[in-house]
Amino acid sequence: MPRAKTLFQCQSCGHTSPKWLGKCPDCGEWNSYTEEQQVTKLKRQKSAEPVALPDITASKDSRFSTGITELDRTLGGGVVLGSVVLIGGDPGIGKSTLTLQSLEGLTKLGKVLYVSGEESPEQIKMRAERLNIASADIIILPETSLESIITIAQKINPRLIVIDSIQTIFSLELPSAPGSVGQIRDCATKLMFYAKKHGTPLFIIGHVTKEGAIAGPKVLEHIVDTVLYFEGDKGNPFRILRTVKNRFGSTNEIGVFEMMESGLKEVSNPSQLFLSERPLNVPGSVVTVSIEGTRPLLVEIQALVTASSFGVPRRTAIGVDLNRVNLLVAVLDKRLGMQLGGMDIYVNVVGGLKINEPAVDMAVMAAITSSFRNQAIEAGIYTFGEVGLSGELRAISQAEVRINEAAKLGFTRGIVPVSNSSNKENRDIEIIGAKNVEDAVQILMF
Ligand code: TYD
Ligand code: MG
Repeated sequence: MPRAKTLFQCQSCGHTSPKWLGKCPDCGEWNSYTEEQQVTKLKRQKSAEPVALPDITASKDSRFSTGITELDRTLGGGVVLGSVVLIGGDPGIGKSTLTLQSLEGLTKLGKVLYVSGEESPEQIKMRAERLNIASADIIILPETSLESIITIAQKINPRLIVIDSIQTIFSLELPSAPGSVGQIRDCATKLMFYAKKHGTPLFIIGHVTKEGAIAGPKVLEHIVDTVLYFEGDKGNPFRILRTVKNRFGSTNEIGVFEMMESGLKEVSNPSQLFLSERPLNVPGSVVTVSIEGTRPLLVEIQALVTASSFGVPRRTAIGVDLNRVNLLVAVLDKRLGMQLGGMDIYVNVVGGLKINEPAVDMAVMAAITSSFRNQAIEAGIYTFGEVGLSGELRAISQAEVRINEAAKLGFTRGIVPVSNSSNKENRDIEIIGAKNVEDAVQILMF
């Protein structure tokens, strides 16, 4: 009998090699290769028939609400039948809590199966009591063997399956340990086949490794339809559910939650929440409007500029890109003659939010300038705009939406790029267009 073929696979990124390697050529990780059995080729199935586009019927109501609006939004408007959703995040961030809470709403479809490889039914029951969940249609299965899970699923035919977490599930057909990339990929694939065949939506929970990627990330992210990341700071009650990939809706959508004693509470007006503890008339603080997915969000940007006691000044950025902050500091230095060379600079986005769009540039600059000059920016002012290397303020997208959101929350003066300021319709708020950073700073601080 020929020897079963084995492969060596990087446990960090999934790269495979016919021989053991000390360092992964793909992700650079050391000592990450383990031996895995090569996956047996899948049997050829009946070949598919080509169909003309108009002849395909798609039923409109193949989406179901989870009863949690913020979760529905990140899914693109609810759970799609037969879809596979990967929910990733740090251990302890609230993934199990969120899925358990969503099951209550999903029982209107019928029986739902919650497979837990991490917690005992008693532990889940205690959590459910805290969350006030008691539906008889939620079936708990403490099981880690893939084969048993599929057998039981076939028997009770649930309308939705949750796997908590994929790292604990293993297939008896593979020799490698639970949690290895080979196991994760194979189990996820088999579960996905089940989901597609039966039209059962599948939620797969996956823990994030220290490096910030879901273990076996590349393989899983390719297989599933939707990838959601649950983010947040352990010390902060706010949690953000972010859509990273979605075959059934827009990406970059976010859902905002607050972790309470009795589980996750939806935050339907995040702008208000992120600004709720804002200190008024304090130097180094300014409000900007960021767009996350389809929603405008008002956030406070803070900066602290202090004389450095070390030779090399410190630059720290939380929630915004540090390279971007360094670039903006250079522009301030050159354009406004601010001597920031010997200063420590700290920039922070309040509430644990991460902002990736350049619209935040102007606010970062304003906060740094305000702290540097020790001069507060008026409480009713907000600002946004992309800053170019020569100090010009560039137009950004969806200015109208941002301005309206700021107006809704009582902000009276917006300092925005000139080309975003032209379109003023019956508003009682003042919108001032600035051509460049010099102008903007002058208006912000008289
Ligand atoms: P959990 O959902 O177990 O996280 P994950 O599945 O992502 O590992 O969340 C656990 C944390 O949430 C734990 O630190 C306690 C906290 N928590 C609350 O604050 N309130 C609650 O009602 C629940 C159920 C958990
Ligand atoms: Mg959990």
